[in-house]
Amino acid sequence: MAILVLGGAGYIGSHAVRELVAAGRDVVVADSLVTGFAASVHPAARFYELDIRDGAALDALFERERIDGVVHFAAFSQVGESMSRPLKYYDNNLGGTMSLLESMVRHGVNNIVFSSTAAVYGEPERVPILESDATVPTNCYGQTKLAMEQMMAWVSRAHGLKYTALRYFNASGADPSGEIGEAHDPETHLIPIVLQVPLGRREKVSIFGGEYPTEDGTCVRDYIHVTDLAAAHILALDYLMDGGESDVFNLGNGVGFSVKEIIDAAREVTGHAIPAETAARRAGDPARLVASSEKAKRVLGWRPKYTDIRAIIETAWRWHREHPNGYVSAG
Ligand code: UFG
Repeated sequence: MAILVLGGAGYIGSHAVRELVAAGRDVVVADSLVTGFAASVHPAARFYELDIRDGAALDALFERERIDGVVHFAAFSQVGESMSRPLKYYDNNLGGTMSLLESMVRHGVNNIVFSSTAAVYGEPERVPILESDATVPTNCYGQTKLAMEQMMAWVSRAHGLKYTALRYFNASGADPSGEIGEAHDPETHLIPIVLQVPLGRREKVSIFGGEYPTEDGTCVRDYIHVTDLAAAHILALDYLMDGGESDVFNLGNGVGFSVKEIIDAAREVTGHAIPAETAARRAGDPARLVASSEKAKRVLGWRPKYTDIRAIIETAWRWHREHPNGYVSAG
């Protein structure tokens, strides 16, 4: 029996595939390659290029492969784009998940682990954030992820399918081998943008807002290493297959770092001065997002290994230094 990873050519998906293969699992990857990269697909995985909105292609895959669990990363994830093109996000994230669940129900595949996000909480009432806290997304991306969670809940009640929704905080870093890593076009995330300066691709970093109600006035986020996220997917899959109930889990380190602290840590790691200047706030940025991941630790037995922000940035730095053009130069 195999595990199907949808979106397995993307940033977090490719790291999950690597961990699954390392754990000895038989892995099938499906990806549309719209935002993913063929070069990031693990050679040990059987690869299908398909769009999950294509129900016939999914049906053919489920008929050909014997799948007993699905890990679903196949979604668009840019907050800014989701605000200017909401229907693109409804179509892909909700339309794709609907088509996937229909096909899973048709083929009696009952276990799914999928990517949700801290963006489902919107502006948090308090930190650290608990899974039971209010979910009031402030952007369309977070809204589509919350709607995916709700779709799973109703389908689960009607058809007995079981799911775990993993609400990631700030995914960061790269596999320590330096072979796979983060590659977005355009890149909007803080750590890869900061590392573009020592790579000579950008002169300075703009700090979006310097007067937030935080210790140094810049936004605080909970950065969690992508390999730790990947490990949580395997635990969540095993939890379901061992009879666990459908549930929702936060995945973060439980420690917040400000934008300035991230830039300082990157200066230490790279030995580069990394000039930075304060710029206007970015619309929709909450001041502080920090997870409580106690539930994932208690129920899934999850233990993040990368708790030091410099160690996280070091892995990202290795990937970006060895692949300054992302997968374009990976050959
Ligand atoms: N930032 C800068 N300058 C930059 C880029 C980012 O100051 O050039 C700041 C942002 O304003 C924010 C912090 O760095 O305060 C982190 O920004 P990212 O874009 O790296 O990450 P976000 O916290 O905005 O986004 C993350 C995930 C999203 C998810 C969101 C939930 O990447 O998928 O958390 O709020 F939706």
